[in-house]
Amino acid sequence: MSDIVDVVICLGSSCFARGNKNTLRVIDKFIKDNNLQSKVHFHGGHCFGDCANGPILKINDQIHTHVDENKALEILRTVFENSK
Ligand code: FES
Repeated sequence: MSDIVDVVICLGSSCFARGNKNTLRVIDKFIKDNNLQSKVHFHGGHCFGDCANGPILKINDQIHTHVDENKALEILRTVFENSK
């Protein structure tokens, strides 16, 4: 399995202030705790232009809206369960 999962967290000011600041840490920890460093490209992105539906998290080409820490973890678990 060599597919790298692309995870982009919106670091635009709206999403960042409304939760992505903490979600960022939670995702980072999830990746480390599960030793996924070689399977994930986790990085920040600029405003996706959809602040009203933020905070935004993009995984591969899929945009997830209204993401909080718990939702982010749920999404990641699903993604990595399916890629095993
Ligand atoms: S700040 Fe995240 S979509 Fe605008």
